[in-house]
Formats: sequence, structure tokens, C-alpha cells
Amino acid sequence: MTTRRRMMPRSSVSTVFASSSPLADDLDLFRRRLLQNPRQVSAIAPSSRTLARAMTMGLGPASGRVVEFGPGTGRFTEAILARGVPPANLTLFELDEEFIQHLRARFPGVTVLQAGAEAAHEYLWPGVQTVVSGLPLLSMPEPLRRAIVAAAFRILAPRGTYVQFTYGPRPPLPPDIIAALGLRVNKGHQIWANLPPARVYRFRRA
Ligand SMILES: C[S@@+](CC[C@H](N)C(=O)[O-])C[C@H]1O[C@@H](n2cnc3c(N)ncnc32)[C@H](O)[C@@H]1O
Repeated sequence: MTTRRRMMPRSSVSTVFASSSPLADDLDLFRRRLLQNPRQVSAIAPSSRTLARAMTMGLGPASGRVVEFGPGTGRFTEAILARGVPPANLTLFELDEEFIQHLRARFPGVTVLQAGAEAAHEYLWPGVQTVVSGLPLLSMPEPLRRAIVAAAFRILAPRGTYVQFTYGPRPPLPPDIIAALGLRVNKGHQIWANLPPARVYRFRRA
């Protein structure tokens, strides 16, 4: 028996991988910054659009103020805006200068701060509804991890949510931090369409 495989026309293949396509540009930028600063970037590729959709589930035009930690090339940023969050309601915290220039050019109207997520409470008033974190939390030293999540809950409204993905089999925060901050956690489905597969966790005050 013969099988017929649908082949992509040559022109489409070259369009998908064209060096000037936004996806290829993002990948180039990401790889360059990863080589320059592997500890800070700490991932082999930008997150997939499937993971970005899972991270931004439930957001919409009436979501109030939203903050993103560690946006990188902006994979979650574009998903947050696609959900209808107005650019003026979105603030990004990123350390890498080249990512920052890229984000400012790509997302006009969004506030992009060159600052560590652990200092978020020094820049913003409380009352944020959602913090979406693309930070490599598990590869960070424990005091920094604790400071980042504490900063998130200093700016979050009482019923606000901290959304964090992880590649590991366990929650991205150890039980002692969850207990010390008085949080409860909701574990999402495994997202296989990501490199590597990831899982989304949502933290709220208990
Ligand atoms: C794993 S990359 C994720 C990029 C993007 N969120 C994604 O999922 O494709 C982590 C990003 O966090 C940034 N980052 C690392 N430590 C940070 C910190 N303390 N505060 C803010 N951003 C940080 C890095 O520069 C990098 O852009």
C-alpha cells in the first residue's frame, strides 16, 4: 500500500524559515542573548504559542493591571495583548538590554522597565490583578526565588494571581515558600507542545 504525504510547497517552506520572518528573528535574538548570558536566560528556546496561551488563560480586556516578569522576546507579551489586555495596563520587568530594545519597538504603549522582578514593589503600587512570570525560577538561587515571589505578592491585589510555568516535575516553588507566603496552588495540564514540555501553576493567597 502506498501512502500519500502532503508536502509543503518549496516557497512556503522558505517563507516559514525565511531569515527575515518574525519567528526566525526572535529565535536569532534569543540564541544570541542565551550565548551571551546563559544563566540569566536559562532556556533553550522561546516558549511556544501553546504555552503562551495556557499562561494567559482567563485574561481579557477587563483584567485590570497585568505585570510580566522576564518577557525575553515577548512570546507571553503578545499572548497577553491578544487576549485583549490594553497595552497601557501592561508592565514588563526585564534585565537584558537587547530584549528591552526589542520589546519597546515591538509593543508600543506597553511599559517596559529595565529592572529585576525582585524589585517590582519599588516601581508599582499594589492592586495588580495578574503577574505572568516567564522567569527561569527553578534555576535561580533560593533567596532570589523567594524575593521574586514575595515582590509579586506585594504588588498583587488580595485576589490576584501569580502564574508561573516550570519544566520540572514539581511545583516551581518549594512547600516552605508556599507556606511562608500563605499561598495555595493550582496545577495545570502538561503542555507537550513546548521545548521542553512545561506545566503552568497558578498561585493565590490562601
Ligand atoms: C527563560 S527566558 C523566558 C523568556 C520568555 N518569557 C519566554 O518564555 O520565551 C527568561 C527571561 O527572564 C529574564 N530575567 C532573568 N532574571 C530576571 C530578573 N531577575 N528580573 C527580570 N527578568 C529576568 C531573562 O533576561 C530572560 O529574558
